[in-house]
Amino acid sequence: MSLFHFPRWTDVFRPLMGLAAIGAPVYLTVLFYYGASPKTLAVGFQPIQPVPFSHAVHAGDLGMDCRYCHSTVEDSAHAAVPTASTCMNCHERILPDSPKLLPVREAARNGEPLEWLRVHDLPDYVYFNHSAHLSKGVGCVECHGRVDRMDVVTQEQPLSMGWCLDCHRNPDERIRPKDEVTNMGWEPPAGEYRDEIGAELVQSYNIHPRQDCSTCHR
Ligand code: HEC
Ligand code: HEC
Ligand code: HEC
Ligand code: HEC
Ligand code: HEC
Repeated sequence: MSLFHFPRWTDVFRPLMGLAAIGAPVYLTVLFYYGASPKTLAVGFQPIQPVPFSHAVHAGDLGMDCRYCHSTVEDSAHAAVPTASTCMNCHERILPDSPKLLPVREAARNGEPLEWLRVHDLPDYVYFNHSAHLSKGVGCVECHGRVDRMDVVTQEQPLSMGWCLDCHRNPDERIRPKDEVTNMGWEPPAGEYRDEIGAELVQSYNIHPRQDCSTCHR
């Protein structure tokens, strides 16, 4: 047998190799065109932040509402991350000498932003809008998990297209009363079922999530 003679059983791969030859350029074109990047699937991604800010302390133990800091989340596509002066509302007096808060004090004094690293980051070719979800009773916890128990924010959901569409196709079980969107621990009242409450809310809020491509790719 010569060195380059493949055994006969590899013949079954020939048609597949042909497919791969046609498929690869198409796949690569799609990949380059959309700049598809695996980072959006980074479940568990946790960057090291400039200040060891803990949601478990602030949103959990202290019970602060998400909107105190992410004030634009209900009205716009993006959820603003707070400026240092928001932190100084309390930290002027609370732990005023903490070394952990040094970057916050400096940023507030210089009027500079804190360089928080992003945790959730969709590719640029995807359009997402926070207010469209919150105004229809989709709670933060559906997409971000129990942030109020996280010392370091972690991406809990894949944020993949299939994941978005799963809910757009069948939202009932994931809709809650609008005034509970930031209540991470919300549960239906005793004796009531989530999917039944959800189905009623889908009616009364007139919810019809779209699935056509231009909803999320515009
Ligand atoms: C005291 C202010 C404060 C409160 C209250 C707060 N956050 Fe945050 N949040 C921050 C800061 C600062 C960051 C950026 C640093 C980080 O990622 O921890 C952040 C980051 C996040 C991120 C990650 C953003 C990214 O880069 O992807 C999510 C998600 C988030 N917050 C959700 C929530 C939710 C949900 C609540 C309510 C349960 C909440 N936050 C309450 C200050 C706050
Ligand atoms: C339907 C899913 C969904 C819900 C509900 C949701 N988020 Fe997000 N959130 C996302 C996605 C997806 C991103 C990444 C957006 C991007 O990269 O453009 C994100 C990003 C963020 C960020 C980073 C800044 C930004 O806007 O990109 C913060 C902070 C945040 N969310 C906070 C919240 C808070 C607070 C709530 C509830 C009041 C909430 N989110 C509800 C899906 C959701
Ligand atoms: C409503 C008041 C309030 C606001 C606003 C607030 N904090 Fe705090 N923060 C506290 C309290 C209270 C503690 C102390 C918790 C404890 O240890 O019991 C604390 C603790 C901390 C600590 C731990 C410091 C140490 O030395 O242990 C850090 C870091 C911190 N906060 C960062 C921030 C940042 C960053 C912001 C703005 C995004 C912020 N905080 C906004 C009340 C606040
Ligand atoms: C937990 C359920 C859920 C998840 C997850 C979810 N959505 Fe939605 N989405 C909804 C609902 C409910 C609406 C509101 C539909 C309506 O207004 O009839 C909506 C509306 C939207 C809109 C507004 C469409 C318009 O009419 O302007 C966009 C854009 C969107 N979603 C994109 C996304 C993207 C991108 C993701 C994934 C990163 C995602 N959604 C994940 C439930 C969800
Ligand atoms: C509800 C929102 C939503 C809708 C509707 C949607 N997409 Fe996407 N799409 C996404 C998200 C989010 C990603 C990013 C996935 C990732 O980063 O893994 C994506 C990624 C893609 C990609 C990049 C390749 C990949 O799979 O990662 C292509 C191509 C694509 N979408 C085509 C389409 C087409 C064609 C349609 C219509 C049939 C469509 N999308 C409808 C949210 C959506």
